[in-house]
Amino acid sequence: MPRSSRTTVARRAVPQARATAAPPRPDAKPITGQRGAEIQQFGTIARIPNGLSERVCKASVTALNQVLADTMTMRDLYKKHHWQVAGHTFYSLHLLFDKHYEEQAELVDTIAERIQTLGGLAIAMAADVAEATKIERPPKGREEVPVQISRILEAHELICKEARDFAGKADEAGDAGTNDLLVSDVLRLNEMQAWFVAEHVVDTPLVRAD
Ligand SMILES: [Fe+2]
Repeated sequence: MPRSSRTTVARRAVPQARATAAPPRPDAKPITGQRGAEIQQFGTIARIPNGLSERVCKASVTALNQVLADTMTMRDLYKKHHWQVAGHTFYSLHLLFDKHYEEQAELVDTIAERIQTLGGLAIAMAADVAEATKIERPPKGREEVPVQISRILEAHELICKEARDFAGKADEAGDAGTNDLLVSDVLRLNEMQAWFVAEHVVDTPLVRAD
């Protein structure tokens, strides 16, 4: 091959680089301020293939939403008392109330996700919880330890009763998963926490035996 031809081939194999940047996209920025129709209305069931009828799922979701609203209130009652506790037992109760708060917070997530698992919608926002809960609203102000404990024990008792009631109904309807959650998670935790708190208001001597 003549020298001049080889040079021509080499030039063709290495094309010259050209600036080919794409034009800027005007939509490459956050789209804010959006609203739209709900994709599922509260109180309805989006059927999930789990072998349970829509009627059974709906009954379990309604019951679980009541337990959820009361459990969220129980959780917040513990945090209020964790912050506001006063007196000789401050340190131990401050720590105990926060431990129980953490356990109730975990339970809230377990209940809410069971509701979603059944195709329902879990109650979520504070205003909706306040409307739904059956636990008596405490004052914003600070209360004495025996009153704090009375409120906590009454709330535990309310949740224990409804957990047993709803667990029985879920069992009769064949919803073993909801029955298990209500007994193994809700009931067991509330019974245990009620015991730990109730022992603080047993009037025993601190130093000298009677
Ligand atoms: Fe704290």
